[in-house]
Amino acid sequence: MQHGRVICDVTNGIASGVLRALFLIAIAGCTGAGGAAPASAVSQARSSSPESSAGPRCNAQAGLASLDASKASLAQTYAKRFKMGVAINGRVYGDGDPAAAALVAAQFNRVTAENELKWQSLERQPGVLDFNQADAFLAYAEQHGMEVHGHTFVWHHQVPAWVFQNDSGGPATRQQLLARLEQHMSALAEHFGSRVRYWDVVNEAFNDDGSLRDTPWRTIIGDDYLDQAFLLAGKHFPDAKLVYNDYAMEKPAKRDAAVRLVQGFKERGVRIDAIGTQAHFQLTTPTLEAIEASLAAFAGAGVEVLVSELDVDVLPAAYKNQGADLSVNAELSAQLNPYPDCLPNDVAEQAAQRWADIFEVFSQHSEHVHSVTLWGVSDGYSWLNNWPVRGRTNYAQLFDRQLRAKRSWQRVIEVAGQAP
Ligand code: XIL
Repeated sequence: MQHGRVICDVTNGIASGVLRALFLIAIAGCTGAGGAAPASAVSQARSSSPESSAGPRCNAQAGLASLDASKASLAQTYAKRFKMGVAINGRVYGDGDPAAAALVAAQFNRVTAENELKWQSLERQPGVLDFNQADAFLAYAEQHGMEVHGHTFVWHHQVPAWVFQNDSGGPATRQQLLARLEQHMSALAEHFGSRVRYWDVVNEAFNDDGSLRDTPWRTIIGDDYLDQAFLLAGKHFPDAKLVYNDYAMEKPAKRDAAVRLVQGFKERGVRIDAIGTQAHFQLTTPTLEAIEASLAAFAGAGVEVLVSELDVDVLPAAYKNQGADLSVNAELSAQLNPYPDCLPNDVAEQAAQRWADIFEVFSQHSEHVHSVTLWGVSDGYSWLNNWPVRGRTNYAQLFDRQLRAKRSWQRVIEVAGQAP
């Protein structure tokens, strides 16, 4: 299968048009990690594959819906409950992958820029704003009538070092950093106006135990930096909804910290409109009860809830308590990458059940859930192929590497039919 594997990987989110069709035939021998071919091509390749007589370790079709994705749209199916969003990158909204662009337009009604509205993408050098990618992203979203989510202003990742430094390379002062944040927001507000409906004002400010994370923002500005960031955002983005976004929000201590943040803001007259719970989930953790408890707690705090970065990681955890901390990473090993060619049927079925269960919980709380956003269009686009271990083959989304709807997609659609 090594030959097939290489071709499969090459096609991850890149093949298009005629090239794509040729690849589809070429990869007919691939199993789940690649393998988007017409059924006839697949069965032909299967019967000539040495694996087929011995019985394949896993089946290319097992994780896939036999349904045609064009027959149902996630956005339409969930329209009465919440918006269906997806994080996209330049390959999708540019010309790099027309099939992905069409799939997103058909299946989703909300988009987040995966990286292109982060500080390092927009203002790598002080005062030098580059809106090329952001403008292309917004044009794509608006062309398809999609709601736009902005991600993110204040974070300890993907913010250039100069933001935290004075002219001689030492740490900036509180006043300098606040002034830079305000200049950055003001430049974005001037450029985007009210086209970005929701903004992640602060991302990942809490440790899992609910204490404030030590970041340059906190060290330089002080513990009131969240207040300051939301006040500035409220001043410059009066029409946008302001969001606090974090991962592992199902851990009780972190959940409580987010609720306390909202309560404190309300007492001090600082506007916050929503909590974004990233939802980087695994097959069995967090529990459905914990997911539910957080949705209920955030709704109880009187803000909208956004499920902001959903994926279901099916690979072994590289760390105990794996969250979504970008600064952790591990060496690639066969043990940590057990499904380089395809996902075994039982795991595909487990993932599909997990997706169904999660959407059932979201549906039960749909009164307070504004949107559910998937972090990546397909298995091939998912960041989980490269975090926390670079170069793994993950199966974390509803569409496979050839953008075919998986059984997980089918189950998510079915849940909407079953829900009240
Ligand atoms: C990730 C992107 O998906 C990657 O492409 C990038 O290299 C690193 O950031 N939590 C967040 C997102 O809030 O911004 C992260 O996105 C995933 C974890």
